[in-house]
Amino acid sequence: MRIVHTLADLRAALRPQPHWALVPTMGNLHAGHLGLVARARQENMPVVASIFVNRLQFGPNEDFDRYPRTLPVDAELLAGAGCDLLFAPDEAAMYPQPQAFRVLPDPAIAGILDGAARPGHFEGVATVVMKLFQMVQPACAVFGKKDYQQLLLIRRMVEQFAMPVSIIGLDTVRADDGLALSSRNGYLSADERAQAPQLQSALRALADAARNATAPEQVQLLEQQARSRLEAQGWTPDYLTLRRRADLLPFTAHDLHQGTPGVVLGAARLGRTRLIDNLEC
Ligand code: PAF
Repeated sequence: MRIVHTLADLRAALRPQPHWALVPTMGNLHAGHLGLVARARQENMPVVASIFVNRLQFGPNEDFDRYPRTLPVDAELLAGAGCDLLFAPDEAAMYPQPQAFRVLPDPAIAGILDGAARPGHFEGVATVVMKLFQMVQPACAVFGKKDYQQLLLIRRMVEQFAMPVSIIGLDTVRADDGLALSSRNGYLSADERAQAPQLQSALRALADAARNATAPEQVQLLEQQARSRLEAQGWTPDYLTLRRRADLLPFTAHDLHQGTPGVVLGAARLGRTRLIDNLEC
């Protein structure tokens, strides 16, 4: 696997092959990321991964500074997973000038849930993903469904800007106890780690109950109860909610009766760590 750090070297390394599959990451890789590489390889084209901790998508009081940077280990893992090329720019290579042009995502998607809890987050994500797509010009790109809202946002961006890249979403990889793999799990103390699967259990219970509801008010009550239960277990939830998969809006009575495809999404803080998860239902 080749490793490049600049745009010029990236373009030179990409040039011999016409079609590439891109796996964008912020590094500190785990089995979930390696699953993305494995999925990219199924497209029968060379795979380029990127590692860049994108300052633009972190709020001023978030974990940008302490986000784990583990490039040497990540590079070994990627090479072992069959990745062909790693693009690992530093900030000067990614943002040689301050990134004054930004992608302003549709607030209908970017202003709710994680977008409401993390103002500016999805503008930062959309901007860096747009830029990575321009730099790499991949034929396809693979993203995990753990960041469900991010995946929807990227699909919409690609559609609205007619970008010639197909977006592939991959199911969340979980630890044996059900916890969704995430780089942020590394922040958890041993006690918190033991408690962390409670988020996924809360989502599963909410999904089971909410799919039997007949009125939106009933769903809201179930969401409130799920929240209170998690609070009683020591969490600080941002949201726990049943939404439509297609647009992440709440279910209407019609949706409940029609069996519209749904997803329960949750974000909650355990100590200093904010975890997110979701389950399609
Ligand atoms: O999902 C992530 O790791 C990041 O949000 C992404 C897509 C690499 C953009 O920085």
